[in-house]
Amino acid sequence: MLYNIDAVNHLIRNRRSVFPDQFDPERPIPDEIINEILINATWAPTHGHNEPWHFSVFAGEGLKRLASFQSELYRQESGSEFNEKKYLKLQHQPLSASHIIAIGMKRNAVNRIPEIEDIEAVACAVQNIYLSVVAYGLGGYWTTGGVTYYDKAKPFFGLGDTDKLLGFFYIANVKIPSGKGKRTDINNKVCWIRK
Ligand SMILES: Cc1cc2nc3c(=O)[nH]c(=O)nc-3n(C[C@H](O)[C@H](O)[C@H](O)COP(=O)(O)O)c2cc1C
Repeated sequence: MLYNIDAVNHLIRNRRSVFPDQFDPERPIPDEIINEILINATWAPTHGHNEPWHFSVFAGEGLKRLASFQSELYRQESGSEFNEKKYLKLQHQPLSASHIIAIGMKRNAVNRIPEIEDIEAVACAVQNIYLSVVAYGLGGYWTTGGVTYYDKAKPFFGLGDTDKLLGFFYIANVKIPSGKGKRTDINNKVCWIRK
């Protein structure tokens, strides 16, 4: 066999999200590793070779720029819904990560592949990120919180009107590992048709 299937199964089945309160902010990750992870992201399947992913990587002082951008946009846009706790979280949470990748979908409507398939391709790229992060012994998670669905956020991440911001992938060294994951019985989700 070309690959060690036990190792591959183990990687996929033991991938866990690791959240900011589990991060070790004192041990930043070398940019070279993040670049390797992003190369893996771009090897996701892509219908029509659209390669619709667009990543903005925040590191070092860039994390402060992201924190201040997202908290201020939230303040501006939330109006009467403004919540001080959420504002402070948006301001502080990015600083616990080593790198944050803003996940964008850049739409290519020319070849008439449906938009959902560009979104699906980016989601495949994010799974490559998830698995690579675990394989490098790091931690992280995909969040669609904060300003993810604010149209006004798009230009900050290099996205245009027809593009979509799909969230943020936080990456860090891990201080507190995640526990065992849980999934429902596969038989509730799979239907075999043999005749
Ligand atoms: C599209 C998407 C959006 C997510 N957004 C959030 C989020 O906003 N906040 C969060 O805590 N986790 C988020 N997650 C991560 C899930 O919480 C996590 O995958 C789930 O708890 C299962 O845990 P596991 O990844 O360890 O299997 C998101 C996951 C996906 C696929």
